[in-house]
Amino acid sequence: MEIKQVEDYQAMSEAGAQLIMETVNSLEKPVLGLATGSTPEGVYKRLIEAHQSEKVSFRHTTSFNLDEYVGMLGSDPNSYRYFMDKKFFDHIDIDKQKTFVPNGKAEDLQRECEQYEQLLMDHHEIDLQLLGIGTNGHIGFNEPGTPFSTKTHIVDLAPSTRKANARFFESEQDVPEQAITMGIATIMKSKQIVLLVSGEKKARALDQLLHGEVSEDFPASILQTHPNVQVIADKAALSKV
Ligand code: GLP
Repeated sequence: MEIKQVEDYQAMSEAGAQLIMETVNSLEKPVLGLATGSTPEGVYKRLIEAHQSEKVSFRHTTSFNLDEYVGMLGSDPNSYRYFMDKKFFDHIDIDKQKTFVPNGKAEDLQRECEQYEQLLMDHHEIDLQLLGIGTNGHIGFNEPGTPFSTKTHIVDLAPSTRKANARFFESEQDVPEQAITMGIATIMKSKQIVLLVSGEKKARALDQLLHGEVSEDFPASILQTHPNVQVIADKAALSKV
């Protein structure tokens, strides 16, 4: 893993956006793996600005998001589809038909997982996967204990994750109990992975990621075995390393 230390959230967002632009600008048909959460928001803002000043076009880009809450329509402001539309896709020239987010409202969720995985494996290889990390080491919604071999699947969210994400909802009870997520094996197939880490509350997780053993108890640790990972972390996130 290559670790890039930056000053703060702004600098992390700038560096993340640069890497994405390099990928998008250098490939004919780029495929991006995208993430939600507070961490990548700044990257999306930078990319929108870059698009507006004609430094990048997403016309030929296809995107796959990591995860989605079960039971949520894309029109629900707490859904990840809504997040992506409002914070990124609605402001750039990407073809919405080529932006994929798991359907948390699918009638047959198991089938939805299989189809999402199939779509990725058959037609697309992710050129660059953007990732954040949960305080418990989750990537996507792959909670501690998830086998490294998992493909896109349904997960029961850990109480700590529901608590951490409660800030977006009216109360913790309103946070869905389940989600669909790309599996760890799905994520590991990406050609390049960019992991963004910001703030002191992620410092312990980042230390464990960099120095802990590779273990299913800490899902992000698998990234140590991927051949092309850039970790972009700010000083606060690196304060316990
Ligand atoms: C969420 C998402 C993850 C994200 C993580 C951290 O639950 N499913 O993809 O990386 O938790 O979120 P944040 O960036 O808001 O700290």
